[in-house]
Amino acid sequence: MKKKLLILIAALCSLLFALSACGESGAEKPAPADPSKILVAYFSATHHTEGVAEKIAQATGGTLHEIVPETPYTAEDLDYNSDCRANAEQRDPSSRPAIQGSVENMAEYDVLFLGYPIWWGEAPKIIYTFLEEYDLTGKTVVPFCTSGSSGIGSSAQHLHALAEGANWLEGKRFPQDASESAVGEWIASLGLKPAAGDPEEKTESGTMTDTIYLTIGDREIAVKLEKNAAADALLELLRESDITYTAHGYGGFEMVGALGHSLPRSDERMTAEAGDVILYSGDQIVLFYGSNTWSYTKLGKMQDVSSGEIEELLTAADGIAVTIGLK
Ligand SMILES: Cc1cc2nc3c(=O)[nH]c(=O)nc-3n(C[C@H](O)[C@H](O)[C@H](O)COP(=O)(O)O)c2cc1C
Repeated sequence: MKKKLLILIAALCSLLFALSACGESGAEKPAPADPSKILVAYFSATHHTEGVAEKIAQATGGTLHEIVPETPYTAEDLDYNSDCRANAEQRDPSSRPAIQGSVENMAEYDVLFLGYPIWWGEAPKIIYTFLEEYDLTGKTVVPFCTSGSSGIGSSAQHLHALAEGANWLEGKRFPQDASESAVGEWIASLGLKPAAGDPEEKTESGTMTDTIYLTIGDREIAVKLEKNAAADALLELLRESDITYTAHGYGGFEMVGALGHSLPRSDERMTAEAGDVILYSGDQIVLFYGSNTWSYTKLGKMQDVSSGEIEELLTAADGIAVTIGLK
């Protein structure tokens, strides 16, 4: 019976959030971040949030930090069907469970991923203790959580009030067994990776590039990427594997196909020209052999290929296989 009540409250929390979530979506997009400037801090009583935090640290290259309670939570403390410690803390607005240790170099981080389990639709009070300990002004905070079934609800909005000077991104709820690819796709959509800068410098380091390659039939074309969140997210996906899709002709000026992933959009009205590689509607890739004016996000420009050759290659058939990859 109590379990049913919990589910009902959790569902209510999710609904309330759905009605009021717009507040968070207006957050600024983060500036690209160096992995050494990313902290993934989490509290996890039964290791589910910990699993997601580890995947985030792996995907971002950030530093993992566990928020450890001074008094650990026993199974009895977490038995929410009883009058347990966790329930008492959640009911008490002034409750601030003490934390063991601290993040001594918090000033060095630009981005804080903050993870927690959902307790009665909210973040556990120990997260409040954590936030009140630091000055997060100017940092980007990215909340994430795990739960039995509830969404992130109003939990992130309530946390936001404790660090108003930070740029809070919309949070994300994961199931307890979130996969590496689900976490990776979310990370890619945030656009936190450093933008491709000086290509030579990056290539020397062996870790970054600003060039991807389109393979159509036996022709390979280099594409120089733009410096934007969509291009960063595409690079992130290509580091995992090549993407092959089918492109179809449209309008007599472009070949369009579904990428199979959504990338962050920063659409603006532009005139696309032959050789442009464009993101349309967040999840379609468009290769131009002619010209068109519309609202797009530019991903990059084909290199060392004439517009005549592009047209010949792209219009060889309707339904061409295109593979995008890295070297
Ligand atoms: C006190 C308490 C309250 C909880 N309240 C909710 C809730 O409102 N909605 C929900 O879906 N799950 C709820 N859960 C389940 C946890 O959110 C879920 O098990 C979570 O993944 C645990 O994460 P952890 O292993 O990192 O501690 C609650 C668990 C506890 C202990």
